[in-house]
Amino acid sequence: MNSSPRSIVVLTGAGISAESGIETFRAVDGLWANHDVNDVATPEGFERNPQLVYQFYNQRRQQLLAEDIRPNAAHTALAKFEHDFPGEFLLVTQNIDNLHERAGSQNLLHMHGELLKMRCLNSRMVFETRENFDFDTECQCCRSPGNLRPHVVWFGEMPFFMNQINMALEACDLFIAIGTSGNVYPASGFYQTAKIRKARTVELNLDQTGSSFDTHVYGPATEVVPEFFGDLLDQ
Ligand code: OAD
Repeated sequence: MNSSPRSIVVLTGAGISAESGIETFRAVDGLWANHDVNDVATPEGFERNPQLVYQFYNQRRQQLLAEDIRPNAAHTALAKFEHDFPGEFLLVTQNIDNLHERAGSQNLLHMHGELLKMRCLNSRMVFETRENFDFDTECQCCRSPGNLRPHVVWFGEMPFFMNQINMALEACDLFIAIGTSGNVYPASGFYQTAKIRKARTVELNLDQTGSSFDTHVYGPATEVVPEFFGDLLDQ
């Protein structure tokens, strides 16, 4: 790298949580190999069969809350970097798990929502939950069942925080994507937005994704993330 960065945006995907025991989406044995996206991750699927959708996210939530699921060295390295870095730092995650915040990340946006939250379909109020919920669960605000949905973004819906994210991408001088296959828009286009303003772009991933970042570093996140961000601080 030519000069020390002053403003950094990091995008993470399922690959950063893989070594914590949470399956990715597009691996051969990943979530989308065993579940039909159209059934469990679209508004139409939820309308057709809400119980199936509730069940899918209840399972994901229970898995996330299991004792053996915890942040790994990559999550921790990002939190440490953010703490020590003197410039601007924004972490955007496509993940709906809470491993970044458990590792200590502060300036964090969950663009695809959060597993530990649910939303009222009437008021759009968001509530925290660690419990299963479904069609029969009474909503805390309207006191009636059938109004709650997972606070996650489904295909066909607009991700959260897009204005804030785009502003940060346009202002950054370094953009780093970690553990994401680059299959899902708009996150897949972030590196191009960052490039327009001449930011340097880096991909840290287990294997090639086909996206043309300036620099590619291949390897498991628990190895490449601590190493890359350790070097970045030393610059
Ligand atoms: P994917 O499952 O599409 O991609 C995960 C990426 O992480 C792949 O490129 C893997 O090679 C890489 N990977 C796997 N293990 C890794 C490891 N130990 N270290 C580093 N990299 C590793 O997941 P995402 O790109 O996050 O959206 O998927 C994006 C979105 O698609 C998700 O947020 C979700 C999904 O459908 C919605 O549900 C709206």
